[in-house]
Amino acid sequence: MKKVVLINGSPRHEERTASAGFLTHVEAILKDGEYEKQLVNVCKSLKNGPDADYAKLLEADAIVLAFPLYYFCLPGLLTRFLEDYEKYLREHGEQKKHAKVYAIVNCGFPEPEINEEAVRVIGCFSHHIGARFRFGVMIGGGPMISEIEGAGPTKKAYEKLEAAIRMMDSDIRSEVVEAPQNVPIQPSFPRRLYLFMGGMGWKRQAKKNGIKKADLYRRPYQKVE
Ligand SMILES: Cc1cc2nc3c(=O)[nH]c(=O)nc-3n(C[C@H](O)[C@H](O)[C@H](O)COP(=O)(O)O)c2cc1C
Repeated sequence: MKKVVLINGSPRHEERTASAGFLTHVEAILKDGEYEKQLVNVCKSLKNGPDADYAKLLEADAIVLAFPLYYFCLPGLLTRFLEDYEKYLREHGEQKKHAKVYAIVNCGFPEPEINEEAVRVIGCFSHHIGARFRFGVMIGGGPMISEIEGAGPTKKAYEKLEAAIRMMDSDIRSEVVEAPQNVPIQPSFPRRLYLFMGGMGWKRQAKKNGIKKADLYRRPYQKVE
């Protein structure tokens, strides 16, 4: 039975997140009888001490990392988790099975290619620890895709997501050396309308948090002359 560790790298661990939702699909498609699946939540792991989770990663045949794009790269919390794993490996031996690594990165903007740099970072990290990076699933419009699951504008996106996970399933079991291409996914929705709705969402959240629209443009750090 293949051992797979599913890592949820979203820092919003108390909320319903897109990353957690995408991992639910991975869990459902990788069949119980064929995989031993373990879920790691990066927030909780760092809070409780990550060594038990690092031990799971050390034994894994495959690692699937799902996380949001933060400032065009990885959330700081996930970077810390991965950097500390690299240190853990130096103290506890190398990746035993040269695990295959997959990334599912989702971002707020509709263009999936924005996630390419973060996927590359996971590729470099994998290489650095002696694991084998295989491919990334780059999801644009993540909040919409996770909110409207598999209906209307996100129906095709979910079909593509499930096809990408099935590709993961066969890739984990295959001996093929050449890695598959990254898979871009986005909702079928007019870009301008999507951005307009996104803007409304920011204003709604500002109001909920007791601040005005103008406060969204405040600069926390003043320019030093
Ligand atoms: C601090 C922060 C930084 C973000 N940076 C980006 C970004 O650079 N580009 C982007 O398209 N979306 C960005 N987003 C939006 C998130 O990637 C998006 O909301 C995502 O769906 C959150 O995923 P999650 O629900 O799994 O946490 C950012 C969100 C936050 C809170």
